[in-house]
Amino acid sequence: MAKENCVLAYSGGLDTSALIPYLKENFGYEVICVLVDVGRMKDLEGARERALKAGAAEAVIVDAREEFLRDFVFPALKSNALYEGKYPLHSALSRPLIAKKMVEVAHEFGAKVVAHGCTAKGNDQVRIDVSVRCLDPSVTVLGPAREWGMTRPQLLDYLAERGIELPLTKKNPYSIDENLWGRAIECGELEDPWAPVPGDAYQFTVDPWKAPDQPLEVVIGFEEGIPLTLDGERLEPTVLVQKIDELAGAHGFGRVDMVENRLVGIKSRETYEVAGALSLIMAHRELEDLTLTRELQHFKTGVDQRLTELIYEGLWFSPLAAALRAFVEETQKVVTGEVRLRYYKGSCMPVGRRSPNSLYVPDLATYGAGDTFSHESAKGFIQLWGLPVEVWARKRQGLL
Ligand code: ARG
Repeated sequence: MAKENCVLAYSGGLDTSALIPYLKENFGYEVICVLVDVGRMKDLEGARERALKAGAAEAVIVDAREEFLRDFVFPALKSNALYEGKYPLHSALSRPLIAKKMVEVAHEFGAKVVAHGCTAKGNDQVRIDVSVRCLDPSVTVLGPAREWGMTRPQLLDYLAERGIELPLTKKNPYSIDENLWGRAIECGELEDPWAPVPGDAYQFTVDPWKAPDQPLEVVIGFEEGIPLTLDGERLEPTVLVQKIDELAGAHGFGRVDMVENRLVGIKSRETYEVAGALSLIMAHRELEDLTLTRELQHFKTGVDQRLTELIYEGLWFSPLAAALRAFVEETQKVVTGEVRLRYYKGSCMPVGRRSPNSLYVPDLATYGAGDTFSHESAKGFIQLWGLPVEVWARKRQGLL
């Protein structure tokens, strides 16, 4: 009888490489690897060859970079998604997409089982498991790296014992997860939340004090909440996001060092390099300030916050997340225009904004000549505005 297929989300790293013989030996599966490219993946072909060398029956590369930005990152940008006010969710946003590709490949290869290399302490296992179950509840998800208890040297031995020599011995002291929207650096020396982040942890951002002495200004253009132009030039989304990330990082902007509340109940020290994501969120918010009404903006902040949590918690495909995204989408119809950002030695500031849909009315705002604001209405307005609290104060003081 032909062996059953199992689709493995393969990264090219040690854990997922060891999973190939592990799934074959312990479960009797034929292993189909899927490498989902969400940007910044080095040497995809090399990774594909490693998968085959480790015994995969097939290894499929899926270029999902555009889909990642269009269907996951930009909807999150529209809701200014920053978990705990700091982390722009690059890992959290990629997992539902990776799960989607796993399910697609499973369908293609008639597999009823998929597997991933996530550990038991992270959020990513939750996101992949729950997303797969939302997309196709008949598919079983395996995460053997949660239980196998093998250390890095043991994993290398495990592969060597099977005659699988992979160029993976280089010891990286950190756990890294990177894509177009950012880079996470965890573990190693970073586990002490008091210890400063070692310089070698950062790769895409320079030390702020080593950044250029001259500030840099850029203009980012949006259409209905989506970034389209840089300094007036229309660019492909993948190019635009990468360019902004690079020039912001070159000015020392985009480092995040935080203690984060994970879904699995622990606090963890996390560091991120997210120069492009933070720049775009800042610019996007700035444009919303100019184009949304006060009530809508304030209400939307709560929706943004809830959606951000749902994304972090692995519920991207839930009906609540879909409904909130639909709300956010509706708000973005007017979020068109340009924002000027200024970078200087680790900082980024909005220094200008304009929009054809701007609700900023100079004649109403001005303190100079040409003022059309109704000054005489202010007194009556405040009289009624303060009436409820005045009644309350009178009552409390025995005046009523
Ligand atoms: N703490 C972040 C999150 O939960 C980043 C996770 C990075 N993933 C990784 N496998 N290193 O979204």
